Amino acid sequence: MRVGILISGFGSNMMKLIESCENKDSKASIELVFSNNPDAEGLKYAKSKGIKIVSIDHNSYESRIEFDNQVNKVLLDHDIEFICNAGFMRIHSDDFVNKWFNKHLNIHPSLLPSFKGLNTHKKAIEAGVKFAGCTVHMVRSGVDEGPIIGQAVTSVNQSDNEKLLAAKVLELEHRLYPVCLHLFAEDLIKVNLDKINYKEKAIKKLEDFKI
Ligand code: GRF
Repeated sequence: MRVGILISGFGSNMMKLIESCENKDSKASIELVFSNNPDAEGLKYAKSKGIKIVSIDHNSYESRIEFDNQVNKVLLDHDIEFICNAGFMRIHSDDFVNKWFNKHLNIHPSLLPSFKGLNTHKKAIEAGVKFAGCTVHMVRSGVDEGPIIGQAVTSVNQSDNEKLLAAKVLELEHRLYPVCLHLFAEDLIKVNLDKINYKEKAIKKLEDFKI
């Protein structure tokens, strides 16, 4: 499965996805890293790994749709079959979402459907939740909405602040995202609209994240 990763910043999740595909048995191969931010730190890492990188500043486009059409063209030009958002800080147009329907994952640093959008950890601390975590989900039109593929949980302690919680959750993200991606590459999961069908082997692979 030819995978493209969309990033805007540091790209630590991207790094973990790339690493997870380095195994010779991997059925997923990262063929492109795209960024809307030409200065995204993660581009350097991808390049050092010999992965094709493309960056297009969204500010040079008049509308979201024009930018998204260009992103789509880049993805198709590289024969990308599946995409993973990894800290990609742009909202997609409905048209783009429909083009990549069920072939497009996102990771969000909360236990969705709680705390969508920005400042996730601040919201979690303020809400006084005792558990936090991350979610890998299919991309749909609403921000941070879509069928949940996997979640990982950590406890929130009295001494946790935004920064500490973000670090704990990021560690979980690094473990969860590769597992979820490979479920698709290995054809262990089927998504129909909002219904998810996990094969037995998929359930086993997600068992590590059970509490
Ligand atoms: C991650 O917490 C991701 O869930 C969120 O933005 C952060 C990106 O981190 N959407 P990185 O760029 O993968 O290091």
